[in-house]
Amino acid sequence: MTESAILVEQLHKSFGPVEALRGIDLAVPRGTVLGVLGPNGAGKTTAVRILTTLLRPDRGRAVIEGLDVVRRAAEVRKIIGLAGQSAAIQDELTGRENLEFVGRLYHLPRDRCRRRAADLLARFELVDAGDRAAKTYSGGMARRLDLAASLVAEPAVLFLDEPTTGLDPRSRIGMWSLIRDLVAGGTTLLLTTQYLDEADELADQIVVIDHGRVIASGTSDQLKDQVGGDVLEFTVADPARRIRAAALVSALSDHDPQVDEASGLISLRIGRRGSDALVEAVRILDQEQIEVQGLATHRPSLDDVFMSLTGHSAEDLAEAR
Ligand SMILES: Nc1ncnc2c1ncn2[C@@H]1O[C@H](COP(=O)(O)OP(=O)(O)OP(=O)(O)O)[C@@H](O)[C@H]1O
Ligand SMILES: [Mg+2]
Repeated sequence: MTESAILVEQLHKSFGPVEALRGIDLAVPRGTVLGVLGPNGAGKTTAVRILTTLLRPDRGRAVIEGLDVVRRAAEVRKIIGLAGQSAAIQDELTGRENLEFVGRLYHLPRDRCRRRAADLLARFELVDAGDRAAKTYSGGMARRLDLAASLVAEPAVLFLDEPTTGLDPRSRIGMWSLIRDLVAGGTTLLLTTQYLDEADELADQIVVIDHGRVIASGTSDQLKDQVGGDVLEFTVADPARRIRAAALVSALSDHDPQVDEASGLISLRIGRRGSDALVEAVRILDQEQIEVQGLATHRPSLDDVFMSLTGHSAEDLAEAR
């Protein structure tokens, strides 16, 4: 048996001329969260649909808890949950009826269905709305109900395809805390998202996919180090002293400092040596009595990572629909 709850090797899928997946590899250790990050059309939903047995791959293989998703699809379906981009909720049914209906699909005994539905309505703050038709729910409530539905049968492996797209900031934070609780309970989770902060917040490992290929993977910290690590920044107002200041701090890094003549901002990639480099910079600049403002170090954001990998910010890509 494998240590990985989810294992994917060289997955390929085309739709006519469109190569949606061009050889994806993934491994998700049991009880961890993989964040699959990518812009519109990257292939996220296609990968999730294959992993959840809704679509057959052209080539490659995917295994969930040791079960091949093509050859043992029926067994895979019993141990997974999916909350997808197109919600599986039936509008005419109430929230409670939706959850009980899912339980019956999984052949849970009737009283068990009733108990699960009541528990999940309470946990997802849907008790008050539980007995009205799902079509009257707000977007955030419908998302919570959809996530609740994916949990009725207590799946060991859960797939969430863009769980917070379209939610307001408060609902997103609420959803994050629900997801964290699930993972604390031992569920293995594969989560797709277009939001860098969401991957940063929730994922143990992140893979970035673009045009059907994995273009980077690692922890959030590892991805940030790939773009040169922390940045030391400060401003020298006096133009006559700027070049000297840049030359002095260049001793702190293998990278060259960037000098912005208009603003006087000097920035330097300093790897993981954040606080040491900061102390050293203060010392050497002070020695030559160079006056600086706003001396600080910061970690790159995942947006910086995305930019350096793809040449676009994630927002540009999201807007270029
Ligand atoms: N059933 C289909 N028929 C034809 N083309 C498809 C089909 N499903 C997906 N595609 C194409 O495959 C590519 C990948 O789509 P996919 O839905 O996997 O992307 P995604 O990363 O989930 O994007 P989004 O962030 O918009 O949800 C796109 O070019 C899409 O148009
Ligand atoms: Mg999608």
